[in-house]
Parts: sequence; C-alpha cells; structure tokens
Amino acid sequence: MVADTTAINRQHRPFPGQDSFWLFGYGSLIYKADFPYLACRPAVIHGWKRRFWQGSHDHRGTPQAPGRVATLIEDPSVRCVGMAYRIRPEALGPLDLREKNGYLRFTTPLRFLDGGEDRGLVYIATEENPAFLGPAPIPDMARQIVSCSGPSGSNRDYLLELARALRALGEEDPHVFALEEAMEDLFPRSTGVVSP
Ligand code: SIN
Repeated sequence: MVADTTAINRQHRPFPGQDSFWLFGYGSLIYKADFPYLACRPAVIHGWKRRFWQGSHDHRGTPQAPGRVATLIEDPSVRCVGMAYRIRPEALGPLDLREKNGYLRFTTPLRFLDGGEDRGLVYIATEENPAFLGPAPIPDMARQIVSCSGPSGSNRDYLLELARALRALGEEDPHVFALEEAMEDLFPRSTGVVSP
C-alpha cells in the first residue's frame, strides 16, 4: 500500500518568517542532492538511529516488490550523522514529492560537525505509515535489497552509495555497513551472480 504524505507535508509550515533554513538528510539526501541549496555542512542529530526499515514502492522497489530504504528510529543513546543543506522554502515542493512514500516533515536540533548548531527540517517515516516494514534479520534485509529495483534505480545502489557517502564523512554506521557486507556475501561484485 502506498502512503502518500504530500498533502500532509504541504500543511506543515516550518520556520515561519525565514527565507531559508536547514534540511537534514541521512539517506539518499546525503548523496543525491538534486534540489537547489545555498550551502551544505555535515551535521549530526542526537537521539535517532538510521535503519533500513522503510519500504520503497516508488523509488527503489515497486508496489509488488518494495525495496528497503532508510528512516530514523528514536533511540536516546545514539546519534545520526548526515548532511545539512541550507534551502529556500520553494525547494520543499519537489522534496515532498520525492519523500511522499510515508515520510513526514519534522523539525529537529542540529549540530554541525565543524561547530555550531541550529534547527533543521528532516523527513522521517514513522512506524505508523503503511509502507513501514520494520526490522528483520540482516541477511533477509540484504537479500531483499539485492533483489529490488524501481524507477530511481536499484536498491543495491541506494545502499552502496549511502555507505560510500558515510565513509566520505568519516562515519562508521554499523547497521549500514553490516547490510553492505551481507549484500556483498550474497552478491559478490566480481561475479554479478546472486547466491542461492
Ligand atoms: C533522507 O535521505 O534524509 C530521507 C530518506 C531518503 O530519501 O533516503
């Protein structure tokens, strides 16, 4: 089932009176910034962990075979590193469409890795949304990711590009790297053959 959050997000008025504000990206928004922005800075948010627990019916999968993409799960003991982009409010229209499969806009405190802090907007797919898949054993999630693709490309590339972008930020994300390793076991890049 597709959970189109576009209409709900359009009602949300973040940072009234500001002609620009920060958007925090933690998944594909880290490595695929196909929207206009004024500046970008690596940043961290506290109390959230990145998990491949959201279904993707529209980008990295299909309604028949949804892929798995990143969302944030509350956990007071951890932090999540990502990329903050300074955007104008007009940028939100296309972003709402891109994130329409279950993601809602929230505002959050942000801390920049090069110092300083501010508030920012973040898209989170909470567990109430119908596309939420939730946890599964790492090998099962890796198998799902390796076998799915959609209009934005393969689910495998989503994971690999995110892992690459996190390494470039100097970030160790055990969940993402465990999925990457499990996927590499199933589908060694050298052979291109999926193990049974
Ligand atoms: C994000 O990247 O911040 C949201 C999830 C996604 O689009 O992959």
